[in-house]
Amino acid sequence: MRDCRSVHRCSPARRLTPELSGQRRIEHIESIRNQHGPRDTGEDMPEAVVVEAVRTPIGKRNGSLSGVHPVDLSAHVLTRLVERTGIDPATIDDVIWGCVSQIGDQSSNVGRYATLAAGWPETVPGITVNRACGSSQAAFEQAAHGVIAGQYDIVVAGGVESMSRVPLGVTRTTGQPYGPRVLARYDNFPFNQGTGAELIAQKWGFSRHELDSYSSRSHARAAAAIDAGAFTDQITPVPLADGSVFDTDEGLRRGTTPEKLAKLKPSFTDDGVIHAGNASQISDGAAALLVTTPEKAAQLGLTPIVRYKAGAVSGADPIMMLTGPIPATEKLLRRTGLSISDIGAFEVNEAFAPVPMAWAVELGLTSEKDQERLNPLGGAIAVGHPLGGSGAILMTRLAHHMRANNIQYGLQTMCEGGGTANATLVELAS
Ligand SMILES: CC(C)(COP(=O)(O)OP(=O)(O)OC[C@H]1O[C@@H](n2cnc3c(N)ncnc32)[C@H](O)[C@@H]1OP(=O)(O)O)[C@@H](O)C(=O)NCCC(=O)NCCS
Repeated sequence: MRDCRSVHRCSPARRLTPELSGQRRIEHIESIRNQHGPRDTGEDMPEAVVVEAVRTPIGKRNGSLSGVHPVDLSAHVLTRLVERTGIDPATIDDVIWGCVSQIGDQSSNVGRYATLAAGWPETVPGITVNRACGSSQAAFEQAAHGVIAGQYDIVVAGGVESMSRVPLGVTRTTGQPYGPRVLARYDNFPFNQGTGAELIAQKWGFSRHELDSYSSRSHARAAAAIDAGAFTDQITPVPLADGSVFDTDEGLRRGTTPEKLAKLKPSFTDDGVIHAGNASQISDGAAALLVTTPEKAAQLGLTPIVRYKAGAVSGADPIMMLTGPIPATEKLLRRTGLSISDIGAFEVNEAFAPVPMAWAVELGLTSEKDQERLNPLGGAIAVGHPLGGSGAILMTRLAHHMRANNIQYGLQTMCEGGGTANATLVELAS
């Protein structure tokens, strides 16, 4: 076999099959996969591991982080990532950054300006990606794929959103975002995530009380995690202009009960079941993960936390909008050969309570025991959902939770505007 290290742009698959093409090449790769089992990425392919993951505390709307520009908030987590790992920022091949509302303070490639705000060499590039609420989960996947493909040795994935400074939906206030053909296809339906959540609650038959019980549990779990110090290692406190330091997720309402939530008025339709207490909160926050190969990590004296195992993306009905995590998870499980019982922790973004609830029903995670693995630290209902930052925040929480509890496999999935979803599987590496 030709030594592919001397061949420019030689992909890992090409390294395995230099003389084959088309169907024969696919069969050859399949036969190698079969020899190693479905979970093996192939002997020649680099692996992607996360060696550090940090996040800001999540700030509530117009709360502690609202005075911090999202570029500076991003720079804050980038700076801490480098401090914690001791790596030279000049060695970072790229910064892949999620952000949803790319207008105003978030308009001009936040990822790039964040590297400059962090004081990193101008040679370190940055890109801002948008897959709606799953933006920084997609950023993490892209970073892992780039490492596996051999394009990156060291790459940062993460994201940010300041929903205080750039309100949800503001990018849709000019122009016609969907275009006439989509509107014709869907009978001029005004795509709306709140309406989608109502439709899911109807379809799966969730009562208001069931939704509010789920939401109260999210607050209780988040409170327990905060009190146990579960987030202490991963949170990088943010110094504020008034000289104080912001260090704890701010949205939590201790003592939330279904009875208290029963008093809240529906937010989207008069006779609906979705309201401020069973929806994700409007928030500000950022997170960053350092992704590299196990070999590079060893050279740098860094211990991997989790290894990227697999990912899947799927689309679903854009009107119901938020059911994508179901097919994305099913696809991921099929690809990996794992079953739901092999996975020790799930971060299923709590965009609205019916989203993880419907996901749990469809994936067969319904017993009380099973539910202990679903959003074990609470979720966005309790602590907030800073859109473009949330994917990286969830992955940061998941990786640290897996390490702290010696969990082999963890799965993250998030619904995304337009009806898509990402699902990502990581494996404990240390
Ligand atoms: C649902 C939503 C519209 C509610 O917005 P809002 O009405 O501005 O919400 P607020 O935070 O002001 O809360 C409304 C009321 O509920 C109360 N409330 C909220 N959570 C509560 C809780 N856990 N316990 C008791 N009261 C609660 C608030 O105190 C407030 O009461 P007040 O009016 O007396 O001050 C908004 O949070 C939302 O859009 N969330 C979803 C965001 C989203 O779509 N993200 C993308 C996902 S796909």
